[in-house]
Amino acid sequence: MAAVTPMMEQYLRIKAQYEDAFLFFRLGDFYELFYEDAKKAAKELEITLTARGKGDDRIPMCGVPYHSSDQYISQLIEKGYKVAICEQTEDPAQAKGVVKREVVQIITPGTVMEGYALQEKENNYLLSVTPFEGNEFGLAGADMTTGELMVTTLADFEELINEMAGYRPREVIVPSTFSEEKQQLLERRLHVTLSFEDHTEPVEEAAALVDGLSDGKIKETCYQLIRYLKQTTKRSLDHLRPAVFYLPQEYMSMDVHSKRNLELVETLREKKKQGSLLWVLDRTETAMGGRMLKQWIERPLLNRQTVEKRHELVGALIDRFFEREALQEQLQGVYDLERLSGRVAFGNVNGRDLIQLKKSLEKVPDIFETVKSLESSFGNSLMEGVGDCQELRRLLEESIEEDCPVSITEGGLIKDGYSEQLDDYRNAMRNGKAWIAALEKQEKEITGIRSLKVGFNKVFGYYIEVTKPNLPQLPEGRYERKQTLTNAERFITEELKEKEALILEAEEKSEKLEYELFMKIREQVKAFIRPLQQLANVISAFDVLQSFAEVAERNRYVKPELKAEGEVDIRDGRHPVVEKMIDEGDYVSNDILLKDDRELLLITGPNMAGKSTYMRQLALISIMAQTGSYVPASEAVLPVFDQIFTRIGAADDLAHGQSTFMVEMLETKHAVSKSTRNSLILLDEIGRGTSTYDGMSLAQAIIEYIHDEIGAKTLFSTHYHELTSLENKLDRLKNVHVSAKEEDGSVVFLHKVIDGAADRSYGIYVAELAELPDKLISRAKAILKEFEQEQSDLKEHKNRVAEESIQSGQERTSFFGNEEAGPQQLSLFPEEAEAQEASRQLNKSQEKVLSQLSSANLLHITPIEAIQLLDKLQRNLNN
Ligand SMILES: Nc1ncnc2c1ncn2[C@@H]1O[C@H](COP(=O)(O)OP(=O)(O)OP(=O)(O)O)[C@@H](O)[C@H]1O
Ligand SMILES: [Mg+2]
Repeated sequence: MAAVTPMMEQYLRIKAQYEDAFLFFRLGDFYELFYEDAKKAAKELEITLTARGKGDDRIPMCGVPYHSSDQYISQLIEKGYKVAICEQTEDPAQAKGVVKREVVQIITPGTVMEGYALQEKENNYLLSVTPFEGNEFGLAGADMTTGELMVTTLADFEELINEMAGYRPREVIVPSTFSEEKQQLLERRLHVTLSFEDHTEPVEEAAALVDGLSDGKIKETCYQLIRYLKQTTKRSLDHLRPAVFYLPQEYMSMDVHSKRNLELVETLREKKKQGSLLWVLDRTETAMGGRMLKQWIERPLLNRQTVEKRHELVGALIDRFFEREALQEQLQGVYDLERLSGRVAFGNVNGRDLIQLKKSLEKVPDIFETVKSLESSFGNSLMEGVGDCQELRRLLEESIEEDCPVSITEGGLIKDGYSEQLDDYRNAMRNGKAWIAALEKQEKEITGIRSLKVGFNKVFGYYIEVTKPNLPQLPEGRYERKQTLTNAERFITEELKEKEALILEAEEKSEKLEYELFMKIREQVKAFIRPLQQLANVISAFDVLQSFAEVAERNRYVKPELKAEGEVDIRDGRHPVVEKMIDEGDYVSNDILLKDDRELLLITGPNMAGKSTYMRQLALISIMAQTGSYVPASEAVLPVFDQIFTRIGAADDLAHGQSTFMVEMLETKHAVSKSTRNSLILLDEIGRGTSTYDGMSLAQAIIEYIHDEIGAKTLFSTHYHELTSLENKLDRLKNVHVSAKEEDGSVVFLHKVIDGAADRSYGIYVAELAELPDKLISRAKAILKEFEQEQSDLKEHKNRVAEESIQSGQERTSFFGNEEAGPQQLSLFPEEAEAQEASRQLNKSQEKVLSQLSSANLLHITPIEAIQLLDKLQRNLNN
């Protein structure tokens, strides 16, 4: 490379330290990017790529104006990149040689503090992972914008990923020694930016944050996170709250797939909030409440007492309409206290933020009053020990100007009367200005020029202006000429200049003083960060609970009764989201009873009947109940489920390199290996992804395993009607089906779940609904008829064979046990079933021969008898 200029040398030196970030290099009013950074940024930001220098020495370059840099930075952060901000750290006018520059902050997806990369009602988590001995991992999570800091340990990598997914992190920190394969898995499964930090030694100023943790290893995980935060933000971390240790087992556990499948906070395909459970439940008034609601939904509780407390306050809020309405109105006036405190600590708070803080605090006493009036013991206990921060409100009220500007350096921030010194400067300014205003009047009178005026501009300061036609009227030598315009002359006087100097000096001093005062006030506010965070916490909880109450009333939900015995008894249950998506009143409610001899339900029914909906309904109702919400039913008795497993829908993981069937089996493995008697398992058409024979066998084995080994409450939907015969074999399994009826040649889905197995499939009808070509449909109907005919012939033939074999005294062994007793499979294209039937016939005769052969006792048999046996077996085979 040719020799570079000293400034480029400086650039390259700094850039070398920030390889994985875009280096925003401050040059006057611009941030410039060079080389590869420039090429990539020009593409990502759609800005022009230019060049610096000439000929062979040309360096690719692009730049963004300093004043609008926020939007560009946000764009890069949103795309998962990091941006290192490199500022000029000395005044260019004073600099000898190249101006000193330094990276003052690295903005990353997990540490961003402002801009549209942040969503109001969403947390922005940065996670840190350290591998422990064995297979264990330490996990720490922080939201820099709210100051939360949470830590836990996980038993293995799968659990780690599941737990991490619950945070929906943007960025994850690992040590550089973290295995390559696991790094890739984290990136692929969580879609995160990976960052590295190898130091886990204690950070003195953060010791208080980890004091409460007993385990040394987990402290290291925290320090890894804190060190990274210090490195990147290069600011105070005062608003980080002391680390809270929790065990994932304190919450209902759901793996990543289950959460996605159940569409708890976003829809599966479009990743939208609309259509998710969160969307139905969110009537929160504040951003903080919105974030807390999302956290609650992601982590339903296991502690029955705590859940019941939430229900109690929701109940009180439902009963007291006026109080609820008042509370909602009061909450509407509360800004984002958590993020405001974060900005205070971070040092980027402005006057308007402090006004928001003040306005929020004004609402607090009213909110407390309203909650007190509910006479809810839980409501009262939430407020216990939480201050209302009115001292802070008073400080802000006395000090900060109501309509202050965004800038904190140009004055207009501090109220009159707050500082005597400032008042003096302001008086000087005002007196000077009053004097000038009086001057205009006085000079008009003296000169008789009615259009004479006193004005001000930044270059010339104050002046007296007289229009050209009036100039002859002006007494010679009265003013000093300063500037000539096309149709006017501007003048000054000695006295005017003196006053001007006074005014400008006072202005400058007052601006400086205001800035200093503002900084002091900010420091005072900093002392309130902890109380503010506590306050934010209870206000968020009130908000979520009023949201539950509002939603419950609007949608006619009821309070669920949680019982330790483990039974599920839901009357007229509804799917909270589906009922919102269809016309009001069209949703067909259903009971769900799971207890004693019906802990596993095998659900059959036509396509589109509502099997999947019924299953999800139970999961969602349970999750709602355990977050403290009321539920869509007329009555609901529920256990506290420790875990929910779902294998629902075709959430293909093709992007992650796994086939549909493999994903299905992995999820099923997860369900059968982790679930307990207190879990809920939902398996939707397991085995569908492979051949009928394989699929059915697996499905049956899975059901039997859950029934015999686990005893978890289970809903299992299937199109394999053979499986319905399991009811005879398994004590605690019952068949139910979703009903449909045929009317004038078309099918009516009743969506009603009733006991017993389904009798028909209606698959072709659904294809008809989907408007496949008429020709295709009628052909399918014809084929089906043929198959049905063949099948009944086959059955007849089989019955004959069976009768004959019964007559000949031979016992039957069947793959599916008592299959004659159960209904047959009603698949749309049953060629596979047919082949299977045939192969089963073959198997049976072979099996019989084999069993006779193996039971023959050769030690007590004569050669003649052996020949006879052989002959018999051969004849049996040929039969
Ligand atoms: N209880 C109900 N009341 C009203 N509409 C319902 C009800 N249950 C389901 N539906 C409607 O029927 C549609 C299909 O339901 P669902 O997907 O649960 O059927 P399915 O039996 O699982 O079908 P498939 O066998 O094809 O998977 C739903 O999208 C919903 O619009
Ligand atoms: Mg389905």
